[in-house]
Amino acid sequence: MPETITFPQGFLWGAATSSYQIEGAWNKDGKGESIWDRFSHTPGKIVDGSTGDVACDHYHRWEEDLDLMQALGLQAYRFSIAWPRILPAGRGRVNQAGLDFYDRLVDGLLARDIRPFVTLYHWDLPQALQDEGGWPARSTAEAFAEYAHMVSARLGDRVKHWITHNEPWVAAFLGYGMGMHAPGIQDFQQAVMAAHHLLLSHGWAVPLIRGNSPGARVGITLSLNDVIPASPSPQDHAAARELDGFTNRWFLDPLYGRGYPADVVQWFGRVHGVQMDFVQEGDMDAIAAPTDFLGHNYYTRTVARGSGQGNLPPVVTTDDSEFTEMGWEVAPHSLFRMLNRLHFEYQIPSIYITENGAAFPDVVDEDGHVRDPRRLAYLKAHLRAAHEAIQCGVPLHGYFVWSLMDNFEWSFGYTRRFGIVYVDFATQRRILKESGAWYRELIARHGFALR
Ligand code: FCB
Repeated sequence: MPETITFPQGFLWGAATSSYQIEGAWNKDGKGESIWDRFSHTPGKIVDGSTGDVACDHYHRWEEDLDLMQALGLQAYRFSIAWPRILPAGRGRVNQAGLDFYDRLVDGLLARDIRPFVTLYHWDLPQALQDEGGWPARSTAEAFAEYAHMVSARLGDRVKHWITHNEPWVAAFLGYGMGMHAPGIQDFQQAVMAAHHLLLSHGWAVPLIRGNSPGARVGITLSLNDVIPASPSPQDHAAARELDGFTNRWFLDPLYGRGYPADVVQWFGRVHGVQMDFVQEGDMDAIAAPTDFLGHNYYTRTVARGSGQGNLPPVVTTDDSEFTEMGWEVAPHSLFRMLNRLHFEYQIPSIYITENGAAFPDVVDEDGHVRDPRRLAYLKAHLRAAHEAIQCGVPLHGYFVWSLMDNFEWSFGYTRRFGIVYVDFATQRRILKESGAWYRELIARHGFALR
C-alpha cells in the first residue's frame, strides 16, 4: 500500500483566476478601460503582442466554466472583480451591468456549492484613476475604499471571504518601479508610494467590508518569497536580508503592526533615493487593521548573493535545480519554511495558499489528451510540503491552485500555461489536463497517495 496523505477536516480545496486574465469583454456592457487594457494595447509591452481583449472569454462562458468547476469538485473558487466594470471612471457612476455579472457568478457558484473567495484588486486599475496619478496618489486609496464599499454592499450577503489586494509587491514594484507591468512606470519613489497606498486602502477597506458583510472573513494576499543566502558568507547573508526586507518584510511588518522595517527604509533611501514623507499620521494604524487570514501566493524561492555594490543583489540558483517555464526554481521545501515563518514570527491566525502552480509547455496529444506530469509532480510536492507544515501546527486552512485554466499571463501573454484545464484559445475549447484529473481525485479523497 503506498503511503497516503490526508488533510484535516474542513481544509478547503479551490482554484484561482483573475478578471483581466480570463474575462475578455474588455469594453462590453459599459466597462471602463483599465491600466492593463492600455498597457497590452501599447505595442512592445506583451511578448507575443497579445491582449486580454478576449482571453478565455469567461465573461460570456461563465456558466460553462462553473460547470467545469463543479465537475472538478471544487469547494472554493477565488476570482477577482474588475474595478472598471463596476466603476468605469474609478469612482462615482456605478455600472449596474458590471455588478450584475458578478452577482450572477456568485449565485451560480453558491448553487453549485462552491464558496466564492473574492479578490477586489488583482491589478486592473481603472485607467481614469491612473490618469490622476494612480496608486502613487493617495486619492486612489480613497477611491478603492469607495469601490470596496460598493461591491461588498452588493455581494456581502452571499460572499463571506474577501481578499482586498493581490500581491501589492508586484502591483507596486513591477508596475511603478521596474515598468514590466501596467502602468509601465520606472520610478522607485512612485513604487514605494504605490505600495503604501495599496496597503492603506486595504486597511481602510477592512472595516467597510465587515460592515457590509456580516460574519465575513477578510484578508489580503501577498506574494512571499523565501530568500536563501547562496553561502554562509556575511555578504550573502546581508544580500538575503535585503531582498527579504524588500519583498517580504516591507509588507508583513506593517500589516502585523510593526511599521515599516527601518533597514529597508534606509535601503530605499540609500539605493533609490526614496523619501518617506508621504506617510501621514494614523496610516500605520490603519494598515495594521486586524484581519482574519493571510493569503499566501507561493511559486518559488530566491537564492541571494551579495554583490558589494549596494544595489539589488544578483540572484543565483543552484545547478541541479529544476525550473518551470517561467524560469522559476521548483522549491517545495521553501513553502514549508515560509508557512512556518508566518506562523511563528507573525502569529497569523489563519493562512490560505491563494495561489500555487507552474507553467510548463503543454501539448494536446493526437488522442485529445493533455499529459502534464511535471505540473502534476509540482503540485504533489507542494501539497506534501503544505501538509508537513500543517503537522507542525501551521493554521493552513485551504489551497487554491493557480490556475483553474490557461489564461493571459500578463507580460508573457498566452505563451505561458498555468491551468489544470487547457484552453485552446482559437476555439475556446477547454480540456481537462492530467493534473486536473489528479486534482479532482485528490479533492474527492481529501488527500493523495505519495507514489
Ligand atoms: C502571480 C499572479 C497571478 C499569476 C501568477 C502566475 O504573481 O498573482 O495573476 O500571473 O503569478
